[in-house]
Amino acid sequence: MKFIKALSCATVLAGCVFSGASAADMTVGFSQIGSESGWRAAETTVTKQEAEKRGIDLKFADAQQKQENQIKALRSFIAQGVDAIFVAPVVATGWDEVLGEAKDANIPVILLDRTVDADKSLYMTAVTSDLVHEGNVAGKWLVDTTAGKPCNVVELQGTTGSSPAIDRKKGFEEALKGHDNLKIVRSQTGDFTRTKGKEVMESFLKAENGGKNICALYAHNDDMAVGAIQAIKEAGLKPGTDILVVSIDAVPDIFQAMAAGEANATVELTPNMAGPAFDALAAFKKDGKEPPKWIQTESKLYTQADEPQKVYEAKKGLGY
Ligand code: AHR
Repeated sequence: MKFIKALSCATVLAGCVFSGASAADMTVGFSQIGSESGWRAAETTVTKQEAEKRGIDLKFADAQQKQENQIKALRSFIAQGVDAIFVAPVVATGWDEVLGEAKDANIPVILLDRTVDADKSLYMTAVTSDLVHEGNVAGKWLVDTTAGKPCNVVELQGTTGSSPAIDRKKGFEEALKGHDNLKIVRSQTGDFTRTKGKEVMESFLKAENGGKNICALYAHNDDMAVGAIQAIKEAGLKPGTDILVVSIDAVPDIFQAMAAGEANATVELTPNMAGPAFDALAAFKKDGKEPPKWIQTESKLYTQADEPQKVYEAKKGLGY
């Protein structure tokens, strides 16, 4: 029995108590962005594993980076009468209508890893990191590491209009405020991919005297940093030494780069957003208890001091 069908309340998000079905009876639709990064691929794997562990029927839809595909997927999940919808929103705006349709159908929506610019009543909860804080942690690391020395920074932004691109930029800029030795001289999107990260870094290097005017790279994710590291090496410079590299995600490949001395620091983003989301859903299903609007995951900074080779060995099997 679909638990939504057992609801007897005005809105899905206010004081509903479910009866009948257990977590194992649930069908959850998951609209994933695509597979632009190692982190994204890991999130998909972990979500499928978490669903299987709980006996949940997961309907998976890959949007191939397109919001229109995500909206179509959400409408299809609504038409199928799923018990809940998970969505990792590719961009922050443009969700009100379809989220309203899910709400009208009494289907709770949980946002995974990215936030939206929409009324909070349109979704049940968001399982995300503090995206501004992540940028802030990366910025503080650079402030401490450069210790007042002049440093031109280049920035590889994530997907334009996505919440991590907006917030990680903001948090980084906040950390640099009042530290006039640090200047962001170039900032452009690399769309969270390795290929674009390399391509854009090549253009930064060309524009900045073959890279000689660049002291640090801040990338909104590790994949873009890995692409950029390749570009730096091809330009005849040493990533990690000539150009400091700090990024976000903490995927195994960046620890390999750190172990080789080619990257300096990364901020961890867990790929397990689905575990807390399924737990919140199960609690809601059991007694109608609404989760908080934000379930925050941790953001840990890793540096060379954290034995990157060991971290790589420990992480490489975990869904990446
Ligand atoms: O929303 C999380 C971001 O999306 C990850 O940092 C990045 O790798 C991914 O593509």
